[in-house]
Parts: sequence; structure tokens; C-alpha cells
Amino acid sequence: MTETVLVVPGDGIGKEVVPAAVSVLDAVADFEFVEAEAGDHVKAETGEALPDETYERAAEADATLFGAAGETAADVILPLRQAVGSFANVRPARSYPGVEALRPETDLVFIRENTEGVYKGIESEIDDGVTTLTRVITDDASQKIAEYGFEYADENGYDDVTVAHKANVMRTTDGQFLDSVAAVAEAGGHDYEEALMDALAMHLLLRPEEYGVVICPNLAGDMLSDLAAGLVGGLGLLPSANVGEDNALFEPVHGSAPDIAGEGVANPAATILSGAMLLEHLGYGEEAATVRSAVESVLESGPRTPDLGGDASTEDVTAAIVDEL
Ligand code: NAI
Ligand code: MG
Repeated sequence: MTETVLVVPGDGIGKEVVPAAVSVLDAVADFEFVEAEAGDHVKAETGEALPDETYERAAEADATLFGAAGETAADVILPLRQAVGSFANVRPARSYPGVEALRPETDLVFIRENTEGVYKGIESEIDDGVTTLTRVITDDASQKIAEYGFEYADENGYDDVTVAHKANVMRTTDGQFLDSVAAVAEAGGHDYEEALMDALAMHLLLRPEEYGVVICPNLAGDMLSDLAAGLVGGLGLLPSANVGEDNALFEPVHGSAPDIAGEGVANPAATILSGAMLLEHLGYGEEAATVRSAVESVLESGPRTPDLGGDASTEDVTAAIVDEL
């Protein structure tokens, strides 16, 4: 069977790093690539950042590879995550030999709840200058993220599982989150530790090597994973997956980088590593490992893009990675 992969480059460096990742995927697997539009440039032409056609294609494809959108990022990526029914946002943050990092011993994977919490979108202005936000935490979504997190840790060889929360203050909502995680852990015989999310931010910064998989409510996962990006040498290296029941979307953590867009010097590693996650998701475990080790080897020996201290172009780095495959 030939899987269909929807490709949405989006804006800015998305148009540079997504073709790089497609050329790597094309070298190791036989996918049918279908391209669709989204982002600032589409909004400028049509008034809508995410055309219905792109949404529908993402829902139908076997997997989607997304680059980045600019100012319209929220209007594009939130609905696209819904289109693929994503309940888990998987964000690995690890350092690589040859890349300067604040904490070279970092090897973390954030498993972030992707549908609710404070990002449910229930906000209102109830009076002049008085605003409110409703935080939604359900047993269903919390159990789902816990199941996914424990399974991910088992399958990927992580011994330490930490659950981030703030149940000392948000007693009802994070109390529910912790109860749901505990029920899943008990049923599956999984060990884990609970950690208050604010203190956890400090511990991750000082001693990342003591942590492995971190299961988080939505906002905590967003913030802690960006913190971890700072530990390992920058945004150009961080891939992510938005996983659903039988569909998924893969994207670099970074945005459209308008400061370097069009110069051909964006680091393609984050998007190529997102491609490796896509391969793994579609059952191409061996090909995923090949792509990862090719990226690692080029990160170690060069060529490197300017964000990593080199002077190579996106194309040079991509060609070196394809050569290594
Ligand atoms: P950004 O991630 O685009 O850039 C932050 C810094 O990192 C910039 O200096 C950029 O040059 C650098 N950088 C990022 N990716 C890089 C790569 N692959 N290679 C080399 N350098 C890289 O974040 P920023 O500046 O906060 O946002 C820029 C635009 O991107 C905004 O319009 C924002 O809304 C959008 N954005 C979109 C996201 C998405 O589509 N998922 C996520 C984050 C931001
Ligand atoms: Mg974020």
C-alpha cells in the first residue's frame, strides 16, 4: 500500500525546510505526496488562513507534514490538529554530539495533552476590564494522555515518568488529572512521580538527566517543552508529533522565522526529524532509525547551518543527510 502524505509548507522557512524533509522521506520510502496551502500568504489572497480543502485533505491523509505559519499560526495549526483528531502532542528534546548545548545530558520527551486545559478556547470579557477563562480537564482526555505516555516510555526505553501538575492550587481540575493518571498507572502497573510544574521547571533546568518522559496538561506541556528546547541548542533541532487515533500531523517546534526566511539558511533538522517521527508512526521503524542516524552524523561532522555556527545552506545540509542514508 502506498500511504498518502499531505505536505503543508506554510509560510517563511516552512517553504524551505519542508521540501528538504520531503526529499529525505522520498529517499527512504515510497509515499504519495500531496501538497496543500495554509498560512499568512493564503489569508492575504483569500481572507482565510486555512482553506477547507487543506483541512479535509489533512483529515483524509495517512499523515501530514506541516512547516510553519506566521501570524496566522493559531488559525492554522489548532484546526489542523483537530482535523487529524490529535489528542497527544509528542515533543522530544535531546542534545546531539557536536551541537553546543546548555545541558548536553538532556534526553526528555514531553507528552502534552493536546485538546483541553486552558486552550479549550472558553474565554470571555464578562464586564469592562474583567475577563475570565475556563479550564477544562476531563477523565477521558487525561486517561488517554496517561495511557499514551506510559506506553511511549515503555516502547522507547525511558525508565522515568513524571506527571506535571499544580493540584495544590487547581485542586479540582489538576486533582482530576492526577486521579485519572493514577487509575491508568494502577491498571497497567506503571511507576511514576508527580511533580509541581513550577518546581519542575527549575529541576529540568538544573538536572535534566534525572527525567525522561514528562506527561503534562496542555499549557504546562507547551511551556516546559520550550524550556527544554533552550537546554539542547535551539529551535532548529526540535521535532514534534500531533498524534490521533488513526491519523497524525508532524511539524518542527519552530515557527516561520521571518528574520532568515528566503535566505536558504534555515536548519532543516527539526523538520527532517519530524519526518522520522512520521516514518515511525506509519510503521517504517527501520527507515526512521536510518534518517535519525543520518541527521546525527551530519550534526556531528557538518556541514552545519548558521544557527549551529556553520555557514552551510539548507540545501547543503539536506544533501549531506541524503548522502548519509
Ligand atoms: P520562530 O521559531 O519562527 O523563530 C525564533 C528564532 O529562532 C528566530 O531567530 C529564527 O531565525 C530562529 N529559528 C527558528 N527555526 C529555525 C531554523 N529551522 N533554523 C535556524 N533558525 C531558526 O519563532 P518567532 O520568531 O517567535 O515567530 C515567528 C513567526 O512564526 C510568528 O509569526 C509566529 O506566529 C510564527 N510561529 C508559528 C508556529 C507554527 O506554525 N507552529 C510556531 C511558532 C511561531
Ligand atoms: Mg508553544
